[in-house]
Amino acid sequence: MARVFITRAIPGDAEKTLEAAGHDVTTWRGELPPTPAEFLAALEGVSGVMTMVTDRVDASVLAAVPSLRVAANMAVGYDNLDTAAGDAAGTWMTNTPGILHRTTAEFALALILSGTRGIATSDRDTRAGGWKTWSPTAFLGTDLFSATVGIIGPGEIGAEVARLCRAFGARVLYTSRSPKPDLERELGLERVELDDLLRESDVVSLHVPRTAHTAKMLGAREFALMKETSLLVNTARGGVIDQDALVEALRAGRPGFAALDVTDPEPLPLSHPLYSFPNVTITPHIASASVATRSRMAECAAQNILAALRGDAPANPVNRPPSPR
Ligand code: GLV
Repeated sequence: MARVFITRAIPGDAEKTLEAAGHDVTTWRGELPPTPAEFLAALEGVSGVMTMVTDRVDASVLAAVPSLRVAANMAVGYDNLDTAAGDAAGTWMTNTPGILHRTTAEFALALILSGTRGIATSDRDTRAGGWKTWSPTAFLGTDLFSATVGIIGPGEIGAEVARLCRAFGARVLYTSRSPKPDLERELGLERVELDDLLRESDVVSLHVPRTAHTAKMLGAREFALMKETSLLVNTARGGVIDQDALVEALRAGRPGFAALDVTDPEPLPLSHPLYSFPNVTITPHIASASVATRSRMAECAAQNILAALRGDAPANPVNRPPSPR
């Protein structure tokens, strides 16, 4: 029997899965995540931890918790885990691929339709008393069926967003370091350079992980290439956008709209200027938040913990410790 810590209350049966395997499971039930100090205190003697995007596991945590054999993120992104530190310490680190792409893509599509047709914006305006009469010119939007959509990062999620947009009839461009001949063949996607994608797209949707390479990949220069009517959608990570530059770019009118499910930091403080734009929609990092998908993500993380605690390689490693603890 090993001690397992889960850093938030989770949906589904994953806690039971861990207990049924004989482990001693403790779950942090606070509405807010544990602070770094609370996290460290809770990890004492723990062998497996299920982490969320709100928890950071780095060299200092691993040094303070020599018992920790696995940190299983309940997320596909893992920029909160220092994988090199995990390798050095001998701690497995895992994520949840192949589960949330359709749910996240549906949410990205919801943001796309909300943005191109002013759903969130007109709802706010209506509640504020702005609906005086039917108007031939109010909230004129862009048709997705004749739009050009640019996908930055055609991985699992980006490819699914592309598929949904193609079903609507949109032309879909993508940019990535390597060509995706299967997607080009199956969905008719066109690979272009980032600058051309920004110039041509009516909707630009971000689907890259946050890495040293993608940090602030869209900044002042890139925003200036976008159309005045275009919509920027971010369901990836806040850090892939230069947020201060986005504020300036929105003031200057390019892009015309933004829909952000992720920000930097999270939550975005209420005093942040991004909230002052009526043409910006901000949602609280909920793209994967369906009951079924979040439950499956938790179950996947639990299975990764169980494997590592059995001494096996987990199914979804994001590091390769040469000598696991
Ligand atoms: C959520 O942001 C995830 O990476 O799964």
